[in-house]
Amino acid sequence: MIVCSCNVITDRDIERALVEIFSLPDAPIPTPGLVYRHLSHRMNCCGCAPLAVSTIYQRLEVLEQRGEICRFRCADVRSKLRVIMDKAATAPLRNAASATPSPSSVSARRSTG
Ligand code: FES
Repeated sequence: MIVCSCNVITDRDIERALVEIFSLPDAPIPTPGLVYRHLSHRMNCCGCAPLAVSTIYQRLEVLEQRGEICRFRCADVRSKLRVIMDKAATAPLRNAASATPSPSSVSARRSTG
């Protein structure tokens, strides 16, 4: 299955990258950006980011079940990845909220302008 159409990255490519990343002595958290860089690509349009995240989660589970990666290390990485993705998911909301004028600032502008 193609996960990223810009870079033609498949779920199998992601799985292979995860095995290689987890074989590193100090394995970093496999964010989509890290996995793509490991595959010598980078995000272009980022339209595949949600699918890349879910594929990474899914492939981690499969690799863990097959015993190809340590389940304790996998659980640790999954929890860290979840925190990062939750922060990323709420970041635009926080930015949008701060960009939204408060009712008092709007009424102040109306009365002066
Ligand atoms: S679809 Fe993956 S970067 Fe565009």
